[in-house]
Amino acid sequence: MTGQAPRKSFGSDNHAGTHPDVLRAVVEANTGDATAYGADPWTERAIGELKRVSGAKGEAYLVLNGSGANVMGLGLLLGRHEAVICAETAHINTDECGAAERILGTKLLTVPSADGKITPELIAGRLAGRGDEHFAQPGVVAVTQSTEVGTCYSLAELRAIKEFCAANQLRVYLDGARLANAAAFIGCSVAEIASCADVLSFGATKNGAMGVEAVIVMHAADGANAKYLRKQHMQLSSKMRFLGAQFNALLADDLWLRNAGHANAMAARLADGLATIPEVEVVYPVQADAVFARLDPRHVASLQRDWMFHVWDESTSTVRWMTAFDTEESDVDEFLAAIAAVTGALSV
Ligand SMILES: Cc1ncc(COP(=O)(O)O)c(C=O)c1O
Repeated sequence: MTGQAPRKSFGSDNHAGTHPDVLRAVVEANTGDATAYGADPWTERAIGELKRVSGAKGEAYLVLNGSGANVMGLGLLLGRHEAVICAETAHINTDECGAAERILGTKLLTVPSADGKITPELIAGRLAGRGDEHFAQPGVVAVTQSTEVGTCYSLAELRAIKEFCAANQLRVYLDGARLANAAAFIGCSVAEIASCADVLSFGATKNGAMGVEAVIVMHAADGANAKYLRKQHMQLSSKMRFLGAQFNALLADDLWLRNAGHANAMAARLADGLATIPEVEVVYPVQADAVFARLDPRHVASLQRDWMFHVWDESTSTVRWMTAFDTEESDVDEFLAAIAAVTGALSV
């Protein structure tokens, strides 16, 4: 211990701690006994609020993590012989240890995507084997909002996907681990995004919660088996009141939106600062809480001596810098100064 505050991590919004209001809500929920498995007033309130903000006609379910939300949500929409069309960069494809394939027994039909987004044209290109018993039949299209590369679908883009899917007997699953960041960027409601999906996740963990996500079922008919699948997928928390309390704190006074808006603003500040550093190239539009940048691998190595962040793609020397609800302007400015010093020092 040096006595100095540790530098802010730019590694992930998951590196951030818990928002004090969320922590307080958890402590306040820690009074006496409460019925287990969700039959408690905290969970009831959270479910009511989640249904209200999303406009869901079906139910909302609190779950423990984002991968579990994705498996459960996809499982609600998929037939046993059906496949999922998604972007190559989709978290379900790259970072969930094949959970959807292993647990649901589905096949992921990936499409290349320049910016993390999928389009009706890309989806159409994956429908060739339809009706042929030798092919896994596309049943669900999975989109991530905001995407894994920090971009956001516009509402028009999402609506076009939804319309195409409706016309082609495809269901839409939306991975909303960072839905809040997208809503803050677009300036729209959760309901507007949710209306473009059949089932979605709504993330809280990356946005100030200690650990909770929601699976939201937009149409009641899709939710008939949801409570059973949640249990089978080991996402039913016994002391659910503490999950409910976290969502209640985030949904009160739009804390979720303020947190996400702040994280986005810090990423934008970082991107603005990088514009003055010629050795660094920002590779995707900065719309949520992530900045992807290409820089000399020697500069990456120097920076990583003092700063925590991940190399996204070693072959192109692309890194991912993420902000969070608690990133401060001074953190960004200090990081920018370090980047400027490192790139300037090594390029002379
Ligand atoms: C887009 C996206 N979806 C889902 C997840 C999975 O969340 P968890 O790590 O809680 O399983 C993540 C986590 O980083 C993510 O970025």
